[in-house]
Amino acid sequence: MDQLVIEGRHPLKGTIRISGAKNAALPILAATLLTGGTFRLQNIPRLVDIRTFTDLLIDLGVTVDYSTDNDSDFLNIDSSGLSDHEAPYDLVRKMRASILVLGPLMSRIGKARVSLPGGCAIGARPINLHLKGLELMGAKLRLKEGYIEAKAGRLKGAHIYFDTPSVTGTENLMMAAVLAKGTTVLGNAAREPEVIALGQMLNQMGSKIKGLGSNTIKIEGVKKLRPVDWKIIPDRIEAGTYMMAVGAVGEELIIEDILADHLEAVISKLRSTGLQIEGDNARISVRKKGALHSVDVTTLPYPGFPTDLQAQIMVLMALAGGLSVITETIFENRFMHVAELRRLGADIKVEGRSAIIKGVKGLNSAPVMATDLRASASLVLAGLAAKGTTTISRVYHLDRGYEHLEQKLAAVGARIKRKKAYLIR
Ligand code: UD1
Repeated sequence: MDQLVIEGRHPLKGTIRISGAKNAALPILAATLLTGGTFRLQNIPRLVDIRTFTDLLIDLGVTVDYSTDNDSDFLNIDSSGLSDHEAPYDLVRKMRASILVLGPLMSRIGKARVSLPGGCAIGARPINLHLKGLELMGAKLRLKEGYIEAKAGRLKGAHIYFDTPSVTGTENLMMAAVLAKGTTVLGNAAREPEVIALGQMLNQMGSKIKGLGSNTIKIEGVKKLRPVDWKIIPDRIEAGTYMMAVGAVGEELIIEDILADHLEAVISKLRSTGLQIEGDNARISVRKKGALHSVDVTTLPYPGFPTDLQAQIMVLMALAGGLSVITETIFENRFMHVAELRRLGADIKVEGRSAIIKGVKGLNSAPVMATDLRASASLVLAGLAAKGTTTISRVYHLDRGYEHLEQKLAAVGARIKRKKAYLIR
């Protein structure tokens, strides 16, 4: 397995371009199952999770190919040949977001067989809300040999309330509802930009969705949809990660091709740590001047502070001048990075859903191990800040969600290298 080797304490200076958002691309790929014809998708990040999802689409009989036009890459997808309705264990096991095929398959062909995702490193992550919604829309569900088997005639509109707002749950049920008979109302729905982007694309395809960005989404079912050309929004989590890299090691980065509106909670929190952030919606500069201040952070559904940046901001708090409390309210077991950060000298204590962090003067290098996608990003930030050379193993987690991470960081002054597995003794 590949490793990342980082020689710390080299400040960053330059410009980083942000890639398309993984979490926006995945539901949009799923939406191509809703109708035949060619979709032309732009700004799809080249990531392992995207590859896993396109493999799943190909398994279902979908045609997928890349093309380049005017220096932009496009992913061309046509599900006219849809011939299967199963998401097998081997793919769902690799990526839970595979569950996103459930809604569109039920919507278009009224049947789906999807492996039930198991637990994962950050908690139990159930899909009960996805399933409850489908049942209310008239689907018959049964669990057989680890698979959810779902069947329905044409789904019918329903009033569905999320006990807790679920991002992929909202996306799945929105896709289930667009071709259903009648109107569906999703209450306490997720408001993440990726949910809005999917809804906008579905509307462009001919759906009738209202209330995107609010917690009540209304979907009036239609009979037919059409394929569209669509551009994926920038990855707000990737952008937030690089902003925090400036906090970890200095000095100044320009972050380009973003939608800063999607990062309001993050920018506000980072300003409270003392980082100077200026710019407009598409391009910002982040500068570190002086020591970091400790701040408390609580993760919340959008527009609150994202759980996907919790591990990364913990690195800044480990280096800040005081005491801070980070509370994780979304996932029950998302502190796997704490033990690894401690190996680098961080002073962090976990009490239930909170981590209490006492800032230290500096971190020191050590071999560490990535445990999940965002935890891995936090280890990269810690490695950039630490004195000496930090080796991170199991970096395949990073390849799931950060496009060209080493290249982007090396181009702005980081000393970071990948050791290919066959070179590691
Ligand atoms: C998505 C993101 C992930 C992010 C998370 C929270 C994608 C592909 N992934 O994951 O990066 O960390 O949102 O912002 O977009 N829940 C239930 N029952 C359900 C579904 C969810 O109880 O049926 C709970 C979860 O356990 C969790 C909370 O709801 O406590 C939010 O999870 P959810 O928004 O569903 O996360 P994902 O959509 O899996």
